[in-house]
Amino acid sequence: MKVVMLGTGYVGLVTGTCFADSGNDVTCVDINQQKIDMLNRGEVPIYEPGLAEMVRRNAASGRLQFTTDLRGPVAEADCVFVAVGTPQGDDGSADLSYVFGAAEAIAPHLREDAIVVVKSTVPVGTNRAVFGRLKELTGRDVHVASNPEFLKEGCAIDDFTKPDRVVVGVMDKKVGEVLAQLYAPFLRTEQPFLVMGLESAEMTKYVANCMLATKISFINEMANLCDRVGADINEVRRGIGHDQRIGFSFLFPGVGYGGSCFPKDVRAMISVADTRGMDAEILKAVDEVNNRQKHVLFAKLDEHFGGDLKGKKIAVWGLSFKPRTDDIREAPSLVLIEQLLAGGADIHVHDPVAVENVKAQLGDKLTYHEHHYDALEGVDALAIVTEWNEYRNPDFEYVKHKMGTPVIFDGRNLYDPEKMGAAGFTYSGIGLKSPGRR
Ligand code: UDX
Repeated sequence: MKVVMLGTGYVGLVTGTCFADSGNDVTCVDINQQKIDMLNRGEVPIYEPGLAEMVRRNAASGRLQFTTDLRGPVAEADCVFVAVGTPQGDDGSADLSYVFGAAEAIAPHLREDAIVVVKSTVPVGTNRAVFGRLKELTGRDVHVASNPEFLKEGCAIDDFTKPDRVVVGVMDKKVGEVLAQLYAPFLRTEQPFLVMGLESAEMTKYVANCMLATKISFINEMANLCDRVGADINEVRRGIGHDQRIGFSFLFPGVGYGGSCFPKDVRAMISVADTRGMDAEILKAVDEVNNRQKHVLFAKLDEHFGGDLKGKKIAVWGLSFKPRTDDIREAPSLVLIEQLLAGGADIHVHDPVAVENVKAQLGDKLTYHEHHYDALEGVDALAIVTEWNEYRNPDFEYVKHKMGTPVIFDGRNLYDPEKMGAAGFTYSGIGLKSPGRR
């Protein structure tokens, strides 16, 4: 099939490349000439394991092309995917100007039977509005489909090529059949291709992310409570997870969810509810609990140092919002660092891939280290914010030797509190029962 992908951001690039890899003829379009030049040189502007190699291989075979000029490719395309950004507007709602901008740009060139597939995360009603706008511009009923993505940064290629399910929202069943063909290479027998109405598909995306965000805020609240009653969230987690109605996934407490999806989607859903005269009380609480959770590590550090962080040397391990990505959008590390800076601390940070992004924001307010051990030199405490694998099993003797005082505040519960106590550390996680604490 001939496919056009509008937007070479995270979703567009992964989706376009995977479609090319399954034998389709794909043109990725972006308005950013610099990005297109980079891609044409075989350089990938984002960090995603396996993607650069896949881009280069498919570009070399001629199945994957990059351009800023959409006219020719759109005129030939069977499917035009819209994967442009939907940033959060000032009022918390999604800013749809890029989506409609894309619809307007393609309208004059679309083939009569082409399908316009919206992949960007858009609030309910947007696909139907896109259909309306295309009708105004072309004078005919253009096929429109909603095809939300469920890719996780860091394992996006795997998520795309082995999806749990594919969801498409359509107005006409035949459109679903064409898209089923496009996705067939990625669907094993037990993975469903779910065809539904436009509004249901739009809601599916938000409901999935809101449900996951709710699980995280829920377990974070429970972990904070464990901290206060002397219970251990890991024991509790095991205690509840074996109940199959609850399960184990997405119930790891931490320093709050970040990234480009959960915070934005929860707020967009609150805003959708508002515009329909409904107060989304649970989602407001989910957002609020998450904002508070990003302060938990600082509160622990502050308490430890008796409210005086001035001149304290603090190491921070992990800056990206989660491992295997350099994305720092809504990252809990930034909230902690802002608070530490305000308190006058001397901050030493390490991250395997996100340092450049943080440097661009915070410059020389921090000291950056190439190696995670080097960040520990003489520090008064270490805060662990992101659970990169290389932090999971350090040489604790060496860590203790490097640190000025062996104090660790772990926002990801990486270590066993008893072993840490025995090894001579003052160690505190999120809702973990630390030795000596009642
Ligand atoms: C998410 C969804 O998983 C994906 O389906 C959607 O398409 C986009 O949003 P992503 O933002 O890449 O993907 O990250 P994900 O791995 O889901 O993690 C989100 C956040 O939740 C991270 O900040 C992570 O640290 C946090 N998290 C996750 C927890 O705090 N505890 C958990 O148990 C799981």
